[in-house]
Amino acid sequence: VIEQVGAREILDSRGNPTVEVEVALDDGTLERAAVPSGASTGEHEAVELRDGDAKRYLGKGVERAVTAVLDEIGPELVGIEAVEQRVVDQKLVDLDGTPDKSRLGANAILGVSLAVAKAAAASSGLELFRYVGGPNAHVLPVPMLNILNGGAHADTEVDIQEFMIAPIGAETFREALRWGAEVYHSLKSVLKSKGLSTGLGDEGGFAPALSSNRDALDLILEAIEKAGYQPGRQIALALDVAATEFHSDGAYTFEKQKRSAEQMTGYYAELVRDYPLVSIEDPLSEDDWDGWVRLTAELGEKVQIVGDDLFVTNPERLEEGISRRAANALLVKVNQIGTLSETLDAVALATSYGYKSMMSHRSGETEDTTIADLAVATGAGQIKTGAPARGERTAKYNQLLRIEEALGDAARYAGDLAFPRYTP
Ligand code: PGA
Ligand code: ZN
Repeated sequence: VIEQVGAREILDSRGNPTVEVEVALDDGTLERAAVPSGASTGEHEAVELRDGDAKRYLGKGVERAVTAVLDEIGPELVGIEAVEQRVVDQKLVDLDGTPDKSRLGANAILGVSLAVAKAAAASSGLELFRYVGGPNAHVLPVPMLNILNGGAHADTEVDIQEFMIAPIGAETFREALRWGAEVYHSLKSVLKSKGLSTGLGDEGGFAPALSSNRDALDLILEAIEKAGYQPGRQIALALDVAATEFHSDGAYTFEKQKRSAEQMTGYYAELVRDYPLVSIEDPLSEDDWDGWVRLTAELGEKVQIVGDDLFVTNPERLEEGISRRAANALLVKVNQIGTLSETLDAVALATSYGYKSMMSHRSGETEDTTIADLAVATGAGQIKTGAPARGERTAKYNQLLRIEEALGDAARYAGDLAFPRYTP
């Protein structure tokens, strides 16, 4: 039974404030959860409440969200069983009363929702992945390691936000992570040897100044080979274009030229032809539904097309996408929707229509590792949580190492089965 709910303002990986929530149960259990924050956020995401007081943290303080937890949410939850997750989450939604969680803040609400789940798991003596996923949770996701950063996560002119490697050919998660880390170091040497910068972007990937997006893919292929791996069969590539960021007035400004959705689709078709790409996220803008439908019809048989800003982990937006056949996979970000129950609803909806799910961090992260457990709990088969470097990123990958070890012989690494559309 929930006895007390606490909250405080802490720092995220970009040095901005965020919310941490603590839930205490009457059996002495105390668990906490911290909330991440995006930079290339979707227009339709649940609202992250910021104070707007320019005298504190450049207006980004979250004292109002903390107060919402302490004064409004906490007292309502005292006395409820922590295992009643759906009751708790529904109460949070009702208490807020707005469709986008803008009154109490999705950051306040998510912190509470996740901390309640963690407390319930701990009090039941179960690991979080087991508590949420049940006895059949056993699939370790492919780590989609973001090793080269562009877009809103870097100060360069590289348009595509994330260049990821997917070690699909590994036997275990542990092996996949090692391959990824080796390629990360190999990429660093390749960049150095060409006189390119090895400074890092927000998600821990390198952020060199390059003249084209293809250059990034070529450098990564070279790094994979130099590390002794076979591009395609062993290590495939994936992109998060985050195209909403360079879309305005109906046009995409890409590599300094204005392009239509059709021209962008043609560009991706060439990339899919020339590179071992398993997945492309947000190839088009968040409200370009017609463009998404055409792109999916053209490329969806060959490659996974992931909706991030398009779906914002919102079951209603996903339903719209499913009925129109836009994209064929869902990016899952807990803070886009704000409660654990709604997140699980979105994944269940995706799964029931044959859409794949990729669990995801945000570019602003904390030491919280909940999404690692959720990836295994949902059997998503894919997780992206940045480079295999920087503590807030490795925290999640390291938690997956622990989960794989805990599962022992029962563990199965998703590998290339996570990408049924891909043939190397
Ligand atoms: P964000 O980026 O957390 O800055 O939104 C991640 C993504 O676009 O997937
Ligand atoms: Zn994205």
